[in-house]
Amino acid sequence: MRTKLTNPKTHLLRYGIREIVETMQKLKELDPSMNFVMENIGDPIMKSWLVPKFLKETIIEEIQKPGDAVFGYAHSRGLIETRKWVVEYAKRFSPKSELNYEDVLFTNGLGASISAFYQMLPEGARIIQPTPSYPTHTSFESFTANAEPILYKLDPDNSWQPDMADLEAQIQAHPDVAAILIINPNNPTGAIYSKETLEKMVELAETYKLFIISDEVYFRMVYNGAQFTQITDIAHNRVPLVVMRGLSKDIPWPGGRCGWMEFHNADLDPEFRSFIEGIKKRILLEICAGTLQQKILPSLYEHPEFETWNKQYNSELEKNANNIYEILSQTKGLKVNKIYGAFYMMPLFENGVLNEKQSLPITNPAARAFIESEVNKSGFPLDKRFCYYLLAATGICVVPSSGFFSPYPGFRLTTLDRDPARARDTYARLSAAVEQYIASV
Ligand SMILES: Cc1ncc(COP(=O)(O)O)c(C=O)c1O
Repeated sequence: MRTKLTNPKTHLLRYGIREIVETMQKLKELDPSMNFVMENIGDPIMKSWLVPKFLKETIIEEIQKPGDAVFGYAHSRGLIETRKWVVEYAKRFSPKSELNYEDVLFTNGLGASISAFYQMLPEGARIIQPTPSYPTHTSFESFTANAEPILYKLDPDNSWQPDMADLEAQIQAHPDVAAILIINPNNPTGAIYSKETLEKMVELAETYKLFIISDEVYFRMVYNGAQFTQITDIAHNRVPLVVMRGLSKDIPWPGGRCGWMEFHNADLDPEFRSFIEGIKKRILLEICAGTLQQKILPSLYEHPEFETWNKQYNSELEKNANNIYEILSQTKGLKVNKIYGAFYMMPLFENGVLNEKQSLPITNPAARAFIESEVNKSGFPLDKRFCYYLLAATGICVVPSSGFFSPYPGFRLTTLDRDPARARDTYARLSAAVEQYIASV
């Protein structure tokens, strides 16, 4: 090669949720008899959720319309009628909202919005991330900045609410921070933020002249008596705000790849306006987001069966979450918080219970040799070591907390499994494996 092709920033792209799949594939090659239970990816379809009939009917109706317009390109920033609908929808939740449809941008999944968003940050502007965090945000931010992420703690001893003192201290320590990322309902902790918490975060943003990004991709998944507070109401005319939403989990249709960004209070600060205009240009280069998904989006959310379906979805998620909590909260060596939204739980190991000698029995010698060579690499995190043994010994695939930039060792699982017998079996085996692993040395 005439020029170097190794990107020195590649090590900053970290996505533990799917990296563990490569380990799983390797194990399958070594031991084809292995079966896996995927507790790593938040895909309701994989966990036996049926796509609602009204979604399939709406798709069929749309593709059969004369003219076939839905097979063509859409407007590069999103279909205008759908963006106008997003504005009306935002007003339904937040009547004061002055969102303009020109400040709503559609992409192929929210992941693509997140990518475009961080890519357009000018050099030197940082976005403070929660820890534990959702790695798509944190990796893109860190990759763009060519530096390790700047993090604020979520507190496991306070139902995973943000540690406000830590957040303020980090903002003070890093004058390059331009915005605060909030993920509410939270992936990976399943927490919902209280109105008071969001009020304090907006106050901090006001005090330090920051903007806020609120990833609300799970905002319809709230249960166990919790309430979702619209940050748009609190931030109205106070701080610039980016709300991120998508179809993936709402309907559920993660393979539909449809997400969007709403830029609220866009003209409060000319710097923020200029940043938005940059993202708009960047989005044009992607040509457009999928036309069919955007076209039917309003009729899906407005469908007479949507609310009933959503209530049922939430009540099943609540039941699943509480059943799993019941099992894991009795597991020796784990600390577990009840969850109130989304469909993830992050049990943590009690202080000091992990060490670099523990293991679980792996019957296949080649699989055992492979896991041992991996976990003995220098600097291998202790929670990841547990997850590797768990995977090879039981087939259960969970993601280590360290894969979420977490300072607390633990792991994240989904609470989606809709098959009660399989779910009971998975969590009973997981619980037994945790106790056996901790007791192994
Ligand atoms: C917090 C959060 N934001 C964004 C995304 C990406 O969603 P999409 O499927 O629309 O790319 C996910 C997916 O799991 C998520 O958990």
